[in-house]
Amino acid sequence: MDLELAGKRVLVTGASRGIGLAIVRAFQEEGASVTATARSTTPELEATGAAFVPADLSTADGPRRMVEAVLSADPRLDVLVNNAGGGAMPQEALGDPLDGGDEVWAAGFALNFEAAVRTVRAALPSLTEARGAVVNISSDSARRPGSEPLPYTAAKAALNAFTRQLAERVAPSGVRVNAVSPSATRTSVITGKDGYVAQVADSMGVPHDALVAALPKQNGMLTDTLIEPAEIARAVLLLASPTMPSAIGANWFVDAGSTKTT
Ligand SMILES: NC(=O)c1ccc[n+]([C@@H]2O[C@H](COP(=O)([O-])OP(=O)(O)OC[C@H]3O[C@@H](n4cnc5c(N)ncnc54)[C@H](OP(=O)(O)O)[C@@H]3O)[C@@H](O)[C@H]2O)c1
Repeated sequence: MDLELAGKRVLVTGASRGIGLAIVRAFQEEGASVTATARSTTPELEATGAAFVPADLSTADGPRRMVEAVLSADPRLDVLVNNAGGGAMPQEALGDPLDGGDEVWAAGFALNFEAAVRTVRAALPSLTEARGAVVNISSDSARRPGSEPLPYTAAKAALNAFTRQLAERVAPSGVRVNAVSPSATRTSVITGKDGYVAQVADSMGVPHDALVAALPKQNGMLTDTLIEPAEIARAVLLLASPTMPSAIGANWFVDAGSTKTT
């Protein structure tokens, strides 16, 4: 199947590892030209040969500066993937009824919501010129009661609303906006010794491996296994593809059935 992505210019945020890195590789396999951004690069990202622009997207100015740097190399932009997200939780936030105070909530929203808004704002003129596509990486946890941490799930819910409303607003100018909502995916957030799940395991006094093994069932996933980042990347490619002109304002759940709604 030709997704007609060859030669397209693609920007992927949070691209140094995990889902973002898989998205970079998947676009490259289709012949797209990819620029990657994160705070720092990794040997795995360097090995892809993608152009790299360093940026902290959780700052007010970071997204605009990053987009300016990307566009100064080439003003064309066909696809923007807002993937950067997650973020560290201070240990004391884990025992708090609201999963943290103002600073934790502000940090959660800055990375998981505002970074996408600011990046879109800066990139929209180029995306409009190209009649391009935006894909936001959300999370099943925004729609799954019982999910945590609250600042993260609330920020992803805001990202879902932003995705749908922005899709409506920019569709007449030819830009399509969609989201992908993964459930537990095999990245450092879940399996890493310093990741969020390791932190939760530590606070619960249970072995990290045991919590990782229990996670799919706990999330209500019907496969009993973590999702591979490459699978999330496949959904992103389809939504970004010009062969999907009617995919507008969609939020594709790649969640193994964890979201229990019709
Ligand atoms: N893994 C899952 O189970 C899962 C489930 C649902 C949704 N998601 C979503 O999928 C996306 C990717 O998650 P992942 O699991 O692949 O995460 P990950 O492995 O932790 O990768 C996160 C990426 O974002 C970058 N990043 C983090 N903070 C940043 C900042 N302030 N400025 C710029 N870049 C930053 C990281 O690079 P640097 O640290 O170098 O900046 C890295 O490239 C996130 O939006 C996450 O919420 C993940």
